[in-house]
Amino acid sequence: MSKENTQNLFQEIISHCKEYGFVFPSSEIYDGLSAVYDYGPYGVELKKNIQEYWWKAMTQLHENIVGLDAAIFMHPKTWKASGHIDAFMDPLIDNKDSKRRYRADVLIEDALAKIEDKIEKEAEKAQKKFGDAFDKEKFLATNPNVIRSKEKLVAFETRFKKALEDNNLEELKQIIVDLEIACEVSGSKNWTEVRQFNLMFSTEVGSLAEDSSTIYLRPETAQGIFVNFLQVQKTSRKKIPFGIAQVGKAFRNEIVARQFIFRTREFEQMEMQFFVRPGTQKEWYDTWKEARMKWHRSLGFAQESLKFFDHIKLAHYADAAVDIQFNFPFGFKEIEGIHSRTDFDLKNHQEFSGKKLQYFDPETNESYIPYVVETSVGLNRTILAVLCNAYKNEKLEDGSERVVLSIPPFLAPVQIAVFPLMKKDGLGEKAYEVFNSLKWDFKCFYEEKDNIGKRYRRQDALGTPYCITIDHQTLEDNTVTIRERDTMQQERISIEKLKEVVSEKVDWRKGLR
Ligand code: GAP
Repeated sequence: MSKENTQNLFQEIISHCKEYGFVFPSSEIYDGLSAVYDYGPYGVELKKNIQEYWWKAMTQLHENIVGLDAAIFMHPKTWKASGHIDAFMDPLIDNKDSKRRYRADVLIEDALAKIEDKIEKEAEKAQKKFGDAFDKEKFLATNPNVIRSKEKLVAFETRFKKALEDNNLEELKQIIVDLEIACEVSGSKNWTEVRQFNLMFSTEVGSLAEDSSTIYLRPETAQGIFVNFLQVQKTSRKKIPFGIAQVGKAFRNEIVARQFIFRTREFEQMEMQFFVRPGTQKEWYDTWKEARMKWHRSLGFAQESLKFFDHIKLAHYADAAVDIQFNFPFGFKEIEGIHSRTDFDLKNHQEFSGKKLQYFDPETNESYIPYVVETSVGLNRTILAVLCNAYKNEKLEDGSERVVLSIPPFLAPVQIAVFPLMKKDGLGEKAYEVFNSLKWDFKCFYEEKDNIGKRYRRQDALGTPYCITIDHQTLEDNTVTIRERDTMQQERISIEKLKEVVSEKVDWRKGLR
């Protein structure tokens, strides 16, 4: 798809989210607040379903993972110990003509991705020209244009990696200049110097000026887990290896927050810290990489829509880190990070608090600070990925069009819509009876307005996987039609069987078994 088409597709998805009650710009009556969004009636259901699915996959399916809900506000020393006050920075750069602000590292990453795209396009062009005789591997190894692009890519990647490692801001600027990156708004290459910017929001607690002290809105939920590590371990009587899972809000004063709910200043993370014996972290890192990829696949994402991406620069706490990226309409981008965080956090909290955070291992008779492997997935990014994956604008056989959200049935905001074919002849009462019997087990929706075709279309656009219609035959033999969203196939089944049939279809366990 061309860049213009993918941008149009993304705009369509954003409009759809607003029109159908998934996501609204925050405080829109005041013209909205940049990079902050609210979740409407269907968005909140989808969000809760994804969150619950993650929670079950983590805590219910792992006897050695327990949950926690720590406060957003934490003692200010937490952030000194975690390194966020000193090191949670992004390099920013401004275009002097448009006054638009960018993350310098993201500008470079995007430019490098374009070189990769160029190589891929060369290969696609050659494939078309040579047809079946085409040998892609040979082409990529020998074509002069491809070789030049590859050399350029490797050279810039090496410089970029080193600049990030050395925190060399001048070199980052130089790479932007050498890559001839232009501002997408002004088109100019007139850049300021690169500066560091701390992403944490701060506020004051205490009512009197002399009592008040600066505290921070947490930029990750993980620290709430670290500071509670020993209390949770003791009260849940877990032995290492064990994990603590948490879902909650995090806040970052993002420099660039322009891609709808992909990057916002207030967002939710679903994080799990897995505490392991020192020296075993590599093994657990690999285990969680695979487990988390499997979870993403279970959301209905094709394997080609997902990939691992090893971090170019490791965060201040990590000895290994990888992202799981999803192919959004604006390209492959991070949806989850898996980090081997060593004993960095617990060791620092022990030092800054003066409280021992050691675990006594009954198997080895030793006390030690555990190592940690973390899985950290953004709830909002997962919602966006599910919506982008689900959104289809289909041309039907009769020439009409429909927009359908093929959300996996177990995540759908509404699972069953119940319609009387018409309100009269007692069909409305019968349909309401069916709705009332199903609502105890499924999220149901009842509607009798408009013709049945319009009602189907509205549910397709919300992603409702099953529509049940009550007609005159229902009154005679207690059967209904059940229509499946993606195939639009209808089947007649008895009302008594509805619960069993739909339960099977919306079963959350299928994907993970
Ligand atoms: N505790 C580790 C940590 O916070 P991260 O890679 O900075 O790691 C983890 O964040 C996940 O949180 C990301 O993969 C992303 O899904 C989500 N996330 C981070 N910043 C975000 C933002 N500004 N808006 C939405 N989601 C964000």
